[in-house]
Amino acid sequence: MRHLLSAGDLDRDEATLILDTAGELAQVGDRSVKKLPTLRGRTVVNLFYEDSTRTRTSFELAAKRLSADVINFSAKGSSVSKGESLKDTALTLQAMGADGVVIRHGASGAPHRLANWVDGSVLNAGDGTHEHPTQALLDAFTMRERLGRLEGLRVAVVGDILHSRVARSNVLLLTTLGAHVTLVAPPTLLPVSVHTWPCEVSYDLDEVLPESDVVMMLRVQAERMHDSFFPSVREYSRNYGLDGERLSRMPEEAIVMHPGPMVRGMEISAEVADSPRCTVTEQVANGVSLRMAVLYLLLGGS
Ligand code: CP
Repeated sequence: MRHLLSAGDLDRDEATLILDTAGELAQVGDRSVKKLPTLRGRTVVNLFYEDSTRTRTSFELAAKRLSADVINFSAKGSSVSKGESLKDTALTLQAMGADGVVIRHGASGAPHRLANWVDGSVLNAGDGTHEHPTQALLDAFTMRERLGRLEGLRVAVVGDILHSRVARSNVLLLTTLGAHVTLVAPPTLLPVSVHTWPCEVSYDLDEVLPESDVVMMLRVQAERMHDSFFPSVREYSRNYGLDGERLSRMPEEAIVMHPGPMVRGMEISAEVADSPRCTVTEQVANGVSLRMAVLYLLLGGS
């Protein structure tokens, strides 16, 4: 494997190797000196054309924990504002000797284009509404840590599926790893091609909740919406929001996940977000180990 562009490119053995490696590397975070020499002399470029809090900082921390040199590039404040193309930007970074390029871009498919232009490994950190493979991997890692297995797990992914790269990557990865996924959303927030995805679809959150081991809540991506997809925030929240009362109707061991950023009071109440059954901060912590594993396997390991 040279690049990580899509969760769908991973077979069961490759995905399991990444999760197992993340489990080993998580121990580095418990040491007083949180560093390994594995990627010493390698250069990782974080190329971010869209905003990010979690993905960007955790890729940076992951690369630094493996002793790589890290260049953080964001489109804002760069020569992109003067009209420089993605290709010319990539070739500029390539000329500086990047061994790995982590890219987030608003255009679906941008990481695939980049992979044709640079010699190093390309890691998709989120492309448009298409994919976010390391998010799906850290989500799977978190489920396995919390619930002890992925095989046969019943996972509900709830909310704005239409604009969600997290949903697509999770469906592809989780089904590869033996979990059953149900997407829950109003019809307007489902892609027209959803019937071709390897999962179930429901419009009724209350019906799905008691049958779920994992409920993954998604933010409504207002920044990608140029139309009205539901009558009001209040109505959306009433039908598709997760509050304490709905949480009480989930199986006792079931967990609530969220990739972040959360909009408290809309898709998730503060009570649920702060509940010990909500794994949102564990997901962030696991994201560092998971991204260390991916960088190690692509740039340095065997
Ligand atoms: N989950 C996620 O991708 O968060 P950021 O947008 O903050 O990176």
